[in-house]
Amino acid sequence: LPRLYSGMQPSSGSLHLGNYIGALQQWRAMQDDYDAFFSIVDLHAITVPQDPAVLREQVRTLAAQYIAGGIDPDRSCLYVQSHVGAHAQLQWLLSTITGFGEASRMTQFKDKTAKGGQEAASVGLFTYPILMAADILLYDTQVVPVGDDQKQHVELTRDLSERFNKRFGKTFTVPKPVILDSGARIYDLQNPASKMSKSAETDKGIVWLLDEPARTAKKIRSAVTDTEGSIRADKAEKPGVTNLLGILSATTGRSVDDLSAEFDGQGYGAFKTAVADAVVAELAPVRERTLELLADPAELDRLLAANADRAAEVADATLRRALEAMGLR
Ligand code: TYM
Repeated sequence: LPRLYSGMQPSSGSLHLGNYIGALQQWRAMQDDYDAFFSIVDLHAITVPQDPAVLREQVRTLAAQYIAGGIDPDRSCLYVQSHVGAHAQLQWLLSTITGFGEASRMTQFKDKTAKGGQEAASVGLFTYPILMAADILLYDTQVVPVGDDQKQHVELTRDLSERFNKRFGKTFTVPKPVILDSGARIYDLQNPASKMSKSAETDKGIVWLLDEPARTAKKIRSAVTDTEGSIRADKAEKPGVTNLLGILSATTGRSVDDLSAEFDGQGYGAFKTAVADAVVAELAPVRERTLELLADPAELDRLLAANADRAAEVADATLRRALEAMGLR
């Protein structure tokens, strides 16, 4: 089977609906066709300040959500990035072949420092994409399923792997991004012009996977729409309704066309109730299962340790090849 690699940051207490629909649901479907590695990228999370005790809990909580969301840890390798030392080591090697200008062109760094300024940002936040390249290259990855916000980082990874192979001899597999279904792009319920993101100013527009079902339903019923009253997809004129249609489509498996035909004319109240019901039906069992798994942290830790050993075996072999190719060791 071809090798697949992807990951998420443990930087909040719960995944949001964007991570769930935009990534986790699609990863789950890909497990059958790929030899998959899914990581919890805690080394990426510390590029902005984290409370150590909280971070430790968030790593476990994310692991539980992966499993509850359908990642099968016996089939796919689900592990924590910092448990495998090779990530940080390869990141250093790759940083020496990355141009400062090249790294400066990464838009995520520019976006993340737009408010606070670059002076206050950590060097780790700047070199974040190089660590991501190390993640991907250590596992001889062929495909990397990500949302389009991460595409530039996968392109950098391709450039670095080709450059390394050319300079030092064939060492890395050159990966390809698989951009996840753009219909799976989820927007903030209160501000449907921006992506649903944990860094939003208010929590009201974010559906957290671990929210109580009643809270989830309330957030969806309070979603911002428009005054026109018709239910159809139109991103420019009707971003709120279009987002809700996308959410309903992802949670029911029905097409947006089908859904707008059914709901148009019924009014926003009935439509929002249907969306709320569908989201709760999808998320409530995942939430329940997550809480069950979290009730036995020792078992989760055991599983993560076993999977880290599996990951390290692959990663260490690749790191050794890279070191030798560069004349080290
Ligand atoms: P992260 O943790 O920001 O996001 C995880 C995944 O969720 C997708 N996503 C969304 N999809 C749809 N709608 C949204 N509103 C939404 N918000 C987030 C993201 O596109 C992503 O696929 N740098 C990565 C983590 C990473 C990684 C890697 C990924 C580290 N190393 C190696 C792939 C391969 C990140 O911060 O994702």
